[in-house]
Amino acid sequence: MEPNLKQVEETLLAYKQEHVLTVLRQLPQAAKEKLAAQIEQIDFESLFKSIAEQNRQPVSFNEPISPIPFEDWADYGEREQEAFTERGWELLRSGRIGAVVVAGGHGSRLGHEGPKGTLDIGLPSRKSLFQLQAERLLYLSRKAGKAIPWYIMTSPDNHEATVAFFRSADYFGYSARDCFFFPQNTMPALDFNGKLLLSGEGTIRLAPSGNGECFAALKRSGAIDDMKQRGLEWLFYYNVDNALIKVADPAFIGVAASHDNPIATKAIEKTDEEEKIGVICLKNGRPAVLEYTEIPDKIKKEKTIDERLFYGLGHISIHLFKLDFIEAHADAEIPYHVAAKKMDVWDAEVGLIKPAEPNAYKLERFIFDFFPLASRLTVLKTSRQEEFAPVKNKTGVDSPESARKLIRELHMRWLQAAGISTEQLRNAEIEISPLLSYGGEGLRKEEWLEILKQEHSNK
Ligand code: UTP
Repeated sequence: MEPNLKQVEETLLAYKQEHVLTVLRQLPQAAKEKLAAQIEQIDFESLFKSIAEQNRQPVSFNEPISPIPFEDWADYGEREQEAFTERGWELLRSGRIGAVVVAGGHGSRLGHEGPKGTLDIGLPSRKSLFQLQAERLLYLSRKAGKAIPWYIMTSPDNHEATVAFFRSADYFGYSARDCFFFPQNTMPALDFNGKLLLSGEGTIRLAPSGNGECFAALKRSGAIDDMKQRGLEWLFYYNVDNALIKVADPAFIGVAASHDNPIATKAIEKTDEEEKIGVICLKNGRPAVLEYTEIPDKIKKEKTIDERLFYGLGHISIHLFKLDFIEAHADAEIPYHVAAKKMDVWDAEVGLIKPAEPNAYKLERFIFDFFPLASRLTVLKTSRQEEFAPVKNKTGVDSPESARKLIRELHMRWLQAAGISTEQLRNAEIEISPLLSYGGEGLRKEEWLEILKQEHSNK
């Protein structure tokens, strides 16, 4: 259907977007219609409502917050740990588990050209983040004798590049049949005066609208139908940029299945009150995550008698969702959060601008805003050193370098547990392929001593 140009012009005036109107009027007919059609798709009402809400005090200031009960993996006895893990393996063997990675973000802090999952963090093997994840999944599915379908959320900006990357790597040994790529939604970006931005002459700058778009995108793309056909029960959800992610961890699956709540989430203890990760808690008696920017100061600093943070359960975006929960809430209108980000924009006089500082408001839905829709949440506290190596920044904290170090340290600990001494590991380049070991199991001392010896003589 042809766009209603008159209506579009009125809308632009009503929402004070005269600069877009000027551009629109100057465009040749075909381009004009294209831009008008794009503008017709914009829900200005919710766009400006979200910005207005952002300028108020965070909601969390006014709502009662309380700690949430949790399980600690370290508190379980050996027999209990084995029983949970075996329960997870049963579900993997019977094909009840899928994995979804949210990889639609821009990764603006990292500034890597191309989708974040294609990043080589500089490990000796030069494997990309996607390859590490694929191999962990392959290890599990081979051992379980059952494929783990893998759902990969992209954005319109990086969809083609992501699919092409997988294809050129022959899906890292994964079956193409078991990889399902699906793009997420977008929202227009705004400058700090509430003006729409452009990404080219006659194109509104759209930006992926957050990982909370995952369920809606799974539904729209037909992925939920695919999951139902395959008989999945649980979906393991994770961020593309955690280099230590234990994708589809059998132990976590076992704990989630035993508690049988609609959602289970992993947590780590926050290092200190200023660490930039959200906190899992109860808000109004419902499971919730408070973003680090939204935690009231008083709550943030509260300590227990043994000097631990009272609200110290750090959220690391590792969840298991029951498939029927996803299906029931795929259309839920969860809120948009507003964040200032760096975004390439187009200017009629200058052309394309690549800003050095945040220049735009981006509206994002967060996956954890589905938590309050579940009456109960299983929280499993786990080990930071084994499971959390975020790659967010180019250098320093949460960078490829820090992730590399964490992987190396973990693999050193695995080898030490296998009987190799610190002395024997000194100066060695250590990286253990996920195809060999998932959590440090199956590493034979003699074999590794031989590998270390050879590596040493090659130097
Ligand atoms: P982040 O919040 O770290 O955002 O995403 P980002 O876009 O990767 O990076 P910055 O903030 O611009 O530097 C956490 C996870 O959510 C995914 C990301 O790909 C990452 O796995 N995500 C984020 C999406 O899938 N879609 C989005 O719209 C935003």
